[in-house]
Amino acid sequence: MAVREVIRLGHPALRQVSAPVAVEDIHSADIQQLITDLIDTCYAQDGVGLAAPQVAVNRRVVMMEWARDRRNPDAVPDSLRIVINPEITFLSDETLRHYEGCLSVPDLRGEVTRCARIRLRGLDRDGRPIDEILLGFAAAVAQHECDHLDGIVYLDRLTDLKSLGFVREHLQYRTRAAVP
Ligand code: NI
Repeated sequence: MAVREVIRLGHPALRQVSAPVAVEDIHSADIQQLITDLIDTCYAQDGVGLAAPQVAVNRRVVMMEWARDRRNPDAVPDSLRIVINPEITFLSDETLRHYEGCLSVPDLRGEVTRCARIRLRGLDRDGRPIDEILLGFAAAVAQHECDHLDGIVYLDRLTDLKSLGFVREHLQYRTRAAVP
């Protein structure tokens, strides 16, 4: 297990467009270790997703786990996804408004609008194709993580800068407003 440092906003790696991973490199020790470390680092921070640029590696690799059972660390999660070279297609005009946070922008939450139904394609850590439809929160997590690969953070997509607040105050005052 290796937990890497999660870089924070201001580090230039968060604002770069990341490079694709060549198919023949997926099984390399570097990429496999990166994937394992992304998972360990995300779990250590209690996140629902992490993108390689957040550990200062500008490669197109994301991990997500939008339904992790936080009360049971031994549970085998079925929402864990590792996606290499992910591609998102918007499938709906329907949007989802909700509050997001980011491990690279600690302690803050802000309201973002995301597409409510997407198609996610890419390769898994064994190089096998991924092609699935994601809805709602899962779709939002995928859009958030894939944005990191293009140097975009959720702050760039706030519906209103005034929605931004600290987590504690958000939970105290904005809980009702989080439901669109
Ligand atoms: Ni993030």
